[in-house]
Amino acid sequence: MKYLDFVNLTYKPKETDLTCTFIVEPEGISLKEAAGAVAAESSVGTWTELTTEKPYVKRLAAHVYSIEGSVVKIAYPTELFEPSNMPNILSSVAGNVFGLKALRNLRLLDIEFPKNLAESFKGPAFGIAGIRRLLKVPKRPLVGTIIKPKLGLETKDHAKVAYDAWLGGCDIVKDDENLSSQSFNPFEERLVATLESRDKAQDETNERKVYMVNITAETNLMLKRAQSVVDQGGEYVMVDILTCGWSALQTLRDQDFKLVIHAHRAGHAAFTKSQVHGIAMKPIATVARIIGVDQLHVGTVVGKMSETKAEVLENIDACKSKMGGLKPVLPVASGGLHPRLVPALMETFGNDFVIQAGGGIHGHPDGTVAGAKAMRQAVDATLYGKTLEEYAKSHLELKLALSTWKA
Ligand code: 3PG
Ligand code: 3PG
Ligand code: MG
Repeated sequence: MKYLDFVNLTYKPKETDLTCTFIVEPEGISLKEAAGAVAAESSVGTWTELTTEKPYVKRLAAHVYSIEGSVVKIAYPTELFEPSNMPNILSSVAGNVFGLKALRNLRLLDIEFPKNLAESFKGPAFGIAGIRRLLKVPKRPLVGTIIKPKLGLETKDHAKVAYDAWLGGCDIVKDDENLSSQSFNPFEERLVATLESRDKAQDETNERKVYMVNITAETNLMLKRAQSVVDQGGEYVMVDILTCGWSALQTLRDQDFKLVIHAHRAGHAAFTKSQVHGIAMKPIATVARIIGVDQLHVGTVVGKMSETKAEVLENIDACKSKMGGLKPVLPVASGGLHPRLVPALMETFGNDFVIQAGGGIHGHPDGTVAGAKAMRQAVDATLYGKTLEEYAKSHLELKLALSTWKA
């Protein structure tokens, strides 16, 4: 089969097909041939015709079934893939094709999995409803913080900052993505000390508090750390899903630790940031959900990281839209947030998300407790339909936050 044999614009995708949407930019060939090249190289074809191709191979060919402008849709027969094997699926549809010389650029915008493949993975154990039940917060956005400085604090100071954040009103405290088990703050000691802070803060505030300890490491070590979290009475683990890799994530999920999995996506922008090449965040979010994360960073629109509102809304959609029987994932907004940004965040996200702020809490001039209070006050104000300025008249922590962070 030649590249053009993989283009069939009258083909109607079957329910059992996996479908992908790409932006294709050809280099020296027609768009149609370039689209065919993507379908060929990610299914049963190659650059030349083959003497080894048997008649029965043809039924496994992927079909380019739509070309509109540079947007190309491809349907892949489900038999091309091994169920429950995400590396296999992605090595096909998001593998070699990115390097073809005949393509100047190629960007994967979306993946839709057929039921049999999606259901061959476990999916989220908790999802939004499970997390809300655990935290006993039925409606409002959850408020979280990341311990800052992101690296360098010794264990006792880490645990104290966590305590202050919970006391001020944070529901969640998490480690930063690059804290694992460095000599200044080893994993086991940090876990024990920070969970002690959690218990103390929980008793003093009568609110549920959770700690998302970063277990990111080589897979076996990561599993040991997850077991320690269970043994010490934690409820959450945090994983840097892209640097750990999909199969590490799946191994963790498949152990059924009964722990909520918080997914940090450090490194995603290497795939997602170019608007013409790479892999958009939406398919990354879809894959993470199918494997089974419960919470996922999806961008903020208004914070320190670049991502358009349209992209963030697509990411949220991948977390929450109906996808077979998979539970919805709780979106997390993080990176450069502070109280002034809360109304805009709630406009984009609604109430089902985590507002996470590091600098925007620990940078409050009166310290972490006041910073956490200001953040909760900003959420309350927005829920009550009041402007932050109005609410700040009687809430001094919020007032000081607003005068500290002006934009
Ligand atoms: C995170 O891991 O989500 C962050 O480190 C965000 O930190 P910031 O609120 O200080 O930008
Ligand atoms: C951080 O660690 O600073 C941010 O949370 C990373 O940004 P993201 O939430 O957009 O992945
Ligand atoms: Mg971080």
